[in-house]
Amino acid sequence: MHSIVTLISGRGSNFEAIVKIAQKDHWPVKFAGVIANHSAAKGLDFARSQGIPAFAIEHREHPSRESFDAALIAKIDELGADLVVLAGFMRILTPGFIRHFEGRLINIHPALLPAFPGLHTHERALEAGVQEHGATVHFVTEGVDEGPIICQASIPVLAGDDVDALAARVLAAEHQIYPRAVKWFIDGRLRIEGNQVKVQPPEAQLIKL
Ligand code: GAR
Repeated sequence: MHSIVTLISGRGSNFEAIVKIAQKDHWPVKFAGVIANHSAAKGLDFARSQGIPAFAIEHREHPSRESFDAALIAKIDELGADLVVLAGFMRILTPGFIRHFEGRLINIHPALLPAFPGLHTHERALEAGVQEHGATVHFVTEGVDEGPIICQASIPVLAGDDVDALAARVLAAEHQIYPRAVKWFIDGRLRIEGNQVKVQPPEAQLIKL
């Protein structure tokens, strides 16, 4: 039985999508806990409604990133995690945190990496006039939004799209690929080779929606 700890900062819809599919398909996983960096994160309410232990570790109460991350590491280790899922966790993690969970720390980013790392991805995609946009699930390494890519979903940018419309379609795509990537991980199907991730047996790592 795999044990998953999820870190969130806000509404937690990706976390919810993963939990719902796991419940529907009877995945052999335990959602050991959800941790937010502030108590107002809405996703904590969903966790509690499902009986999943939910915690807030207020980053503002810590004097440094190192101190906040040390508290996070301690809590995640106490909960016991084979996999740490970043689902809209909007804090930059220290190298020490990333090394501690190396190979079992994954993130979803709302763009087709390596395009548009960082923030405001939908605004930047519209400004750049790209025809395709999307989302990426990747292992986390020390460079921000740079780790080996597990899977991606691409969607067309439509004439007349504004940030909200584009963000809504990307989010729907995220809800398809994040559960898929988590399931691959718990099934032991992911191999990291250099900066690439191989899925074994092979399965499409890009979904075009
Ligand atoms: C998602 O769009 C996710 O890709 C993004 O935050 C949103 C969280 O939504 N993550 C990042 O921007 C990470 N840098 P959710 O709380 O509803 O899952």
